[in-house]
Amino acid sequence: MNHPAFNGQAAVEAPAWIRHRKLIDWVQRVAALTKPDRVVWCDGSQEEYDRLCAQMVASGTLTQLNPAKRPNSYLACSDPSDVARVEDRTFICSQRKEDAGPTNNWLEPADMRSTLDGLFDGAMRGRTMYVVPFSMGPLGSPIAHIGVELSDSPYVVTNMRIMTRMGRKVYDALGEDGDFVPCVHSVGAPLAAGAKDVPWPCNDTKYIVHFPESREIWSYGSGYGGNALLGKKCFALRIASTMGRDEGWLAEHMLILGVTSPEGRKYHVAAAFPSACGKTNFAMLIPPKGLNGWRISTIGDDIAWIKPGSDGRLYAINPEAGYFGVAPGTSEKTNFNAMASLKENVIFTNVALTDDGDVWWEGMTDEPPAHLIDWQGKDWTPAIAKETGRKAAHPNARFTAPASQCPSIDAEWENPAGVAIDAFIFGGRRSTTVPLVTEARNWVEGVYMAATMGSETTAAAAGRQGVVRRDPFAMLPFCGYNMSDYFSHWLRTGERLARLNVQMPKIFCVNWFRKGADGKFVWPGFGENMRVLRWMVGRVEGDANGAEHAFGISPAYDDIDWSGLDFTRDQYDEVISVDDAAWREELDLHAELFDRLERGLPPALQETRTALRNRLAA
Ligand code: OXD
Ligand code: MN
Repeated sequence: MNHPAFNGQAAVEAPAWIRHRKLIDWVQRVAALTKPDRVVWCDGSQEEYDRLCAQMVASGTLTQLNPAKRPNSYLACSDPSDVARVEDRTFICSQRKEDAGPTNNWLEPADMRSTLDGLFDGAMRGRTMYVVPFSMGPLGSPIAHIGVELSDSPYVVTNMRIMTRMGRKVYDALGEDGDFVPCVHSVGAPLAAGAKDVPWPCNDTKYIVHFPESREIWSYGSGYGGNALLGKKCFALRIASTMGRDEGWLAEHMLILGVTSPEGRKYHVAAAFPSACGKTNFAMLIPPKGLNGWRISTIGDDIAWIKPGSDGRLYAINPEAGYFGVAPGTSEKTNFNAMASLKENVIFTNVALTDDGDVWWEGMTDEPPAHLIDWQGKDWTPAIAKETGRKAAHPNARFTAPASQCPSIDAEWENPAGVAIDAFIFGGRRSTTVPLVTEARNWVEGVYMAATMGSETTAAAAGRQGVVRRDPFAMLPFCGYNMSDYFSHWLRTGERLARLNVQMPKIFCVNWFRKGADGKFVWPGFGENMRVLRWMVGRVEGDANGAEHAFGISPAYDDIDWSGLDFTRDQYDEVISVDDAAWREELDLHAELFDRLERGLPPALQETRTALRNRLAA
């Protein structure tokens, strides 16, 4: 619904179907500050989505793809400076610095508010402010929560409609006084009267700011992904993790999948990997020939909200409704289900355009097309790529696709009660040292493994790539509070489960990325990861063997089902072996992490490190 010109003074009229006074007052206050030309209260309808897409095609933000090839799909190419999450511009402004902890950027909340007041003053001039109500999780689920994003980016609105349950039904759920997380977003590019807009407005100054106590999010200057779709990393991880700490639940950077055995027994697994380490591929895995009868179903590919159910067990939902997946490397071979999810109704960002109006990215096909328009709008040919090294798609190019289009979607994915978790998996990208799979002997050891996880950095965040950084629980960029307190929260969760005497989820640590002397990955990965999952399920059932070593329990060669795969004992040794010298160094790095976290680090983790070190020495 459109409203007449808003001059920053007049009250913003809300449609009659919105009855939430506090929400209307807040929208009015933000509009008075940001001074948009118009306010649009989004209803989430298809008509609204189509209208916004048409508008963005006209303004040059989107290119409509060939409807015969990719119905109802679009390509957006961002400003070259706005292509990934900006962790160094992301702030946790808790009242006390120590509550943000040493791994988050912190600024005094009052100072930050005055900076933001300055930046947002008139930031939406010449633009439309969209009011985007959204639910993270199925509406009405006791695990779900609601947010409202005010944004001056129609690209954000359309992506939010795919990624969340967005629109009028959210207002109905909010009623007159329901709780919501207020999220304000501006690309930070006010338009002078009559000035022509650019296809991807943004600002060199960027602030992605969270106020955990008041549960507010303010994002300025970027239109991209996790910086701008505020339901995702900002709400569903940073703010939700603090809600979980206060209320006794978990908000995690985890995929959720179902594993069904040939006998029809079903298990649920939640797995944390850092960005761009294959969570989407793992969540949509197709078991290889040889493991006939096993089935994987997809519940979520990036985020899990996990609350205790009435029986005390941990129940998880996927708070999202779509996939914002990394495109490069995705192909029919690596992720058939993702490719099938991308047939229609998709927004692609920063991939290349083919001459027949479709999309392409590195790794999509063995042979690249003879000619493309690359993500920066330039001609691209294989010869140009060879000469210049220029990629056709940005390495962090993305697809935004509705989860419901995934052929492997789990029948329970919208179950408001969630699914009971049988196992947690933690994994990083490590070319050396960390074995293919290790089971923690107990909850504390599992928390230790997750807390000390390291991974080689990827293109999902701005900065250097390929260097190992500690990424505890794959949450380093996403935990909204002090990491040490977060570890304590996990330890408390285990203590609670033990007290209630309910079945504890098992905890495993995996590494698909060990490399051989030739620099190539030794483990085939992708569908073959089913063999590791099968062993884990056996451990949950108590009928799979494993061999104990210094860090936990790993399968011996004969404990894995190799049907249909030629993988030798020597190759297996390359991915499973534990090198004592390398692990001594690794434990030194764990000590460095612990020194860095220091304040409030649970003693149980230091004790676990000492115990592991002693086992090694022995
Ligand atoms: C993501 C990320 O977009 O982790 O999921 O960067
Ligand atoms: Mn992610």
